Amino acid sequence: MKLRTLLLLSAVPVFLLAAGGCRKPAAPAKADALRNAYDVEVDSNDATHMIPLSYQQAQGKRIFYADCVWCHADATPAGPSNRSNLTPVPPLLSDGTVLNGVSDDYMKNIITLGGSALGKSAMMPPWGRTLSPEDVKAVIAYVRAVAQPPYQAPAQAGSPYTREGTAGSPSK
Ligand code: HEC
Repeated sequence: MKLRTLLLLSAVPVFLLAAGGCRKPAAPAKADALRNAYDVEVDSNDATHMIPLSYQQAQGKRIFYADCVWCHADATPAGPSNRSNLTPVPPLLSDGTVLNGVSDDYMKNIITLGGSALGKSAMMPPWGRTLSPEDVKAVIAYVRAVAQPPYQAPAQAGSPYTREGTAGSPSK
């Protein structure tokens, strides 16, 4: 009996060693990958170019991928987007040829009140009850940051109510 116990006990360290030997050495702690993902956005014209984002623009990116990507991009984190099924087809929010010409106030209004409030398609939902005014500012800051061609703030603000009063021209 005693010998058996002794043998059993002596096997324990061997077993522990063997089990320990199978374990991979702990990987060095990585920086928060998710946080890094929000620090930059891929240039929509050049996948090798990363656009650095400020804190506010990064908040806007988070909101874009939660609420807007489904209709305003061609691919979403969950697969294909709804964009091509919609009429009118919503602009890509990185498309500077479409959005560089509209004022921040117009964007704020259409995002907050929805398309129908500005005589546009009701397929653009109102976000004023979902997003705070700061959220809306953040998502606009993100849209400006990722615009291709790059956005340049106009000397004079455009119309808050129409696309026609393009940035730079006097509001009607
Ligand atoms: C259900 C689909 C859908 C979602 C989700 C959506 N949009 Fe839209 N959006 C549209 C459509 C459709 C239009 C085009 C309206 C028109 O031209 O009549 C539009 C238009 C716009 C415009 C105006 C573009 C212009 O050239 O006048 C802005 C800015 C905009 N969306 C921002 C956003 C933001 C920011 C979000 C997320 C918070 C968002 N949209 C979410 C469908 C959507």
